[in-house]
Amino acid sequence: MSIRKPLPHDAAKLHVTGAARYVDDIPLPANALHLAFGLSPIARGRLTAMDLDPVRAAPGVVQVWAYGDLPSDCDCSPSAHDEPLLSDGTVHYLGQPLFLVAATSHHAARRAAQRARVEIDEDTPILTIEDALAADSRFEDGPVIWSKGDTGSAIAAAPHKVEGQIDMGGQEHFYLEGQAAAALPMDDGGLHVHSSTQHPSEIQHKVAHALGLSMHDVRVETRRMGGGFGGKESQGNALAIACAVVANATGRPAKMRYDRDDDFTITGKRHDFRITYTAGFDEDGRLRGVDFTHYTRCGWAMDLSLPVADRAMLHADNAYHLEHARIESHRLKTNTQSATAYRGFGGPQGVLGIERVMDHIAHHLGLDPLQVRQRNYYADHIAHTTPPTPQEAPPAPDPNQDMTSRGAQSHTPPGKAPPETPSVQTTPYGQPVEGFILNELTEQLVRSADYTARRAAVAEWNAQNPILKRGLALTPVKFGISFTLTHLNQAGALVHVYHDGSVAMNHGGTEMGQGLFQKVAQVAAHGFGVPLDTIRITATDTAKVPNTSATAASSGADLNGAAVAIACETIRARMAAHVAETYGGDASDVRFADGHVTTSDTRLTFAEAAALCHQGRVSLSATGFYKTPDISWDRVAGQGRPFYYFAHGAACTEVVLDTLTGENRILRTDILHDCGESLNPALDRGQIEGGYVQGAGWLTTEELVWDGKGRLRTHAPSTYKIPACSDRPDIFNVALWDGANHVPTVYRSKAVGEPPFMLGISAFLALSDALAAAGKAYPALDAPATPERLLTALQDLRATGTAV
Ligand code: MTE
Ligand code: MOS
Repeated sequence: MSIRKPLPHDAAKLHVTGAARYVDDIPLPANALHLAFGLSPIARGRLTAMDLDPVRAAPGVVQVWAYGDLPSDCDCSPSAHDEPLLSDGTVHYLGQPLFLVAATSHHAARRAAQRARVEIDEDTPILTIEDALAADSRFEDGPVIWSKGDTGSAIAAAPHKVEGQIDMGGQEHFYLEGQAAAALPMDDGGLHVHSSTQHPSEIQHKVAHALGLSMHDVRVETRRMGGGFGGKESQGNALAIACAVVANATGRPAKMRYDRDDDFTITGKRHDFRITYTAGFDEDGRLRGVDFTHYTRCGWAMDLSLPVADRAMLHADNAYHLEHARIESHRLKTNTQSATAYRGFGGPQGVLGIERVMDHIAHHLGLDPLQVRQRNYYADHIAHTTPPTPQEAPPAPDPNQDMTSRGAQSHTPPGKAPPETPSVQTTPYGQPVEGFILNELTEQLVRSADYTARRAAVAEWNAQNPILKRGLALTPVKFGISFTLTHLNQAGALVHVYHDGSVAMNHGGTEMGQGLFQKVAQVAAHGFGVPLDTIRITATDTAKVPNTSATAASSGADLNGAAVAIACETIRARMAAHVAETYGGDASDVRFADGHVTTSDTRLTFAEAAALCHQGRVSLSATGFYKTPDISWDRVAGQGRPFYYFAHGAACTEVVLDTLTGENRILRTDILHDCGESLNPALDRGQIEGGYVQGAGWLTTEELVWDGKGRLRTHAPSTYKIPACSDRPDIFNVALWDGANHVPTVYRSKAVGEPPFMLGISAFLALSDALAAAGKAYPALDAPATPERLLTALQDLRATGTAV
């Protein structure tokens, strides 16, 4: 049996030995060209002059393009058609590509790009949330508001009330492999593109559109990424389009990769948010009503900002049952990099909002924050699975619309929410919270992490130590699984069995380190009852499986695993029928296990069975297609059932804070996370550990700083600090929840890519807890909680005379 085994990543050895091939490692013909963009040194203005002659004259330069030289606007946007590859005269941010250089080497192209003489009529840039609000600079006409109950009255009638605000910074993806693409011209006018992308179909669509080709003219291949984290859902479009333009114009292969500094300067990051809140609650800390306002800094172009801001709103409840809630969301347009997908896709920001509220309430009432959380949890509920609703007639598709990007606006008519089961509590957007397990899961973590005794020990430590303060926090996550743009919840697969019994497997998902290919190979091996080394994992390829969705929203294994399982099932049924026909017996009695195909009186190796079927002229190749049942979502009303299910987890973090310097460490972390029935517990554990550390990094050390001119000052590892190995918790206990999963996902597994990211919030709130131990007032810490910010917060507490 291949599923459920803790097998290593299929390419682990290749990764650690350096043998794994990334886009930049693919050998190209000797005449290949290398590309670089010339970037705007100004954040906002009009291009008045651009002298590119010195660039053309630079050594090694073959050709240079400005906007007017392009075959079209070469739009790179995944949503609103608002991102020309090169500035059309308007400059929107510092780092925006103004022109494109093709040269004989990477360094020649970069050096030449420095030589341009650019004149820009400079405007005052809109950089911050305040700037954008003052200028009313936003996407959409006004804020989006979703609500449930009567929030104003509920808060007014509540015995207690807190108000506050939390600012949270963005986050650079810092994939180890930077953005890269290569395009090879074919002899028939077609293009073969290699791209480090989470979304090969999007690259295909955008390249075809830029060059006026059909999608069948463009083949996109992605073997692996050295990390994507959402940063390669749309941000690879520009490089692939640039390579395609050059390959098409010159007939030569073209490759582009960003240097790290350029990658920081050009590409979008996590959206930074400001969240303000008013919460009304009773003596026990039970929420009566809560009102949130989200201010989302989207940068210059729309990109995926609308669905990101939606997902933040959809996670404003996190694990808590809200009877009366109102969420208002402002999507602000600024002259900065266009913020984009990043692990959690807005969810982490929304979750941090309510986790801050829980913490604030607990401080206000002098209660343990964990108690306040548990009192507000949804009730545990054993999910029952409802039959899929019949598909509504699809709307007439618009061929010009980007149908595979989640930035696209839904044309789907408003779905009908399933009838509400009275016993099931619902989210603020009307989805029944089925399968909720956090009450039980939290109790289990409280025991395994020894929370109660350690809470007392931390208090005692803090009473005795004036300088080093400890903090403890236990926070939950409930994360919705499915793309909120319903039609994206589909996947295809292509499986071949060769007549020697070896299997080649392909699907629409991409590999970025998360272990998707291994998990799906395990599904295929299980489907045929063969050893895993029988399955060949192949690169994602738009010529094999068309019209795929991005590998995103943590849905890779759910969707592609199911599609592969269906393809395997088709082939297996054909093989079983033929074996039964040949040897007698019933096809349903034919067994596929241990590398053999057996009937009541015959035992063939899988290879013998494959050869037999081939000789019997039985097709050994099949496609598989899967679509998630039972989901519907009306984003305008903010109502429906956008998620097929929820993934859950909880983390308990203990930190120590040096109140003289602001320096701090994570001493111990305990995590209990829900992966359903894990397809591969080793890979899932890796996702949980990595997600937690990345989440903690977002809220502690990773700080993006723009100066008053809109220049990103933190554009390299020298100034931008991601967690290192030495920053991981000294004690790191990770366990998988072993309860049943009632949702019929592929082998009852659950998505794990994004949810554990939000467990990093416990590290942030543990620091806040340590600060609280040093003062009397509520610390109201903003993120990231860098040592500087912690020290400043401490000074503020002292200035108000509330520090101990
Ligand atoms: N893990 C690794 N090692 N590298 C990555 O780039 N991306 C994350 C997560 N885990 C990522 C990762 C993000 S943002 C998502 S949406 C999921 O993996 C995507 O893969 P999945 O759908 O197969 O889980
Ligand atoms: Mo992940 S942010 O959905 O690519």
